[in-house]
Amino acid sequence: MATMAPDPLPIVRTVAELRRRIRTWRDEGRSIGLVPTMGALHAGHLALVEASTRANDRTVATIFVNPKQFGAGEDLSRYPRREAEDVKAMERQGTNLVFAPTVDEMYPKRHATTVSVTGLTESLEGAHRPGHFNGVTTVVTKLLLQALADRAYFGEKDYQQLVVITRMARDLDIPVEIVGVPTVREADGLALSSRNEYLTPAERAIAPALHRGLRDTAEAIIAGTPIREAEENGRAAVLAAGFTSVDYLACRSADDLEPIETVNRPARVLAAARLGSTRLIDNIAVPCG
Ligand code: PAJ
Repeated sequence: MATMAPDPLPIVRTVAELRRRIRTWRDEGRSIGLVPTMGALHAGHLALVEASTRANDRTVATIFVNPKQFGAGEDLSRYPRREAEDVKAMERQGTNLVFAPTVDEMYPKRHATTVSVTGLTESLEGAHRPGHFNGVTTVVTKLLLQALADRAYFGEKDYQQLVVITRMARDLDIPVEIVGVPTVREADGLALSSRNEYLTPAERAIAPALHRGLRDTAEAIIAGTPIREAEENGRAAVLAAGFTSVDYLACRSADDLEPIETVNRPARVLAAARLGSTRLIDNIAVPCG
């Protein structure tokens, strides 16, 4: 007897349809994981899906290139879009449903509400991308409330984003567990990112220097180099390797991103640097004790 081909992974485009499908699973007593993405998937995104499928009965992935988190002059129009390919990759990874709304569905006419997390968002990425985090927290609040999943998965690659979303979910009593997933890297250390596609071959050869600079800075701090000096050496090394400019390279407290003088609690070294017209970010843990 011929075996039936499995049903293709459903894609829903409206909040109403997303809720209807999730309600059916809830009625069956299933746990639900949510993986928000902007598409252009790579193995980093798929690690989030994998973490979700391991811990939940059903996994919902979202694909939405959120215009509100791109500033003027940023890469919204050239951001890679390839939904059909993304859906196939998600299907292979065990996703049960894709939510890929239009901009009008997410931001209907007269949409007027912004979610803003103060304190955590002004420095680092926030200082260089005005308005970016308001765009992120607004869309993620909507996605969390639309899906009402048990758990939602975010990468440590965007470490400040993970800290901001964790605080936001707590502050707003959104009933979801925010789960951080370690950064997936290329063999040479470069953190996977949809923006790596913008790099020329020459830039791609330079790009791993960002991770090396972070790693060397973290090691120097652990070995006792004063933090300010280690940060300065890290910035110099990234520039010497061929990066065009360094927006920041800074050691911060891991939980509240405050500057620290000594590593007496878990810390993180975070960096953003430009390579030609591409801006890359990365970060690394500095263990305490
Ligand atoms: P996007 O850049 O598509 O990333 C989606 C998720 O994948 C984020 O949680 C991000 O941290 C994670 N991710 C990206 N690269 C990773 C890597 N190399 N290893 C592990 N995880 C990685 O981040 C966003 O989209 C948006 O801001 C979003 C949260 C979807 C809101 O619009």
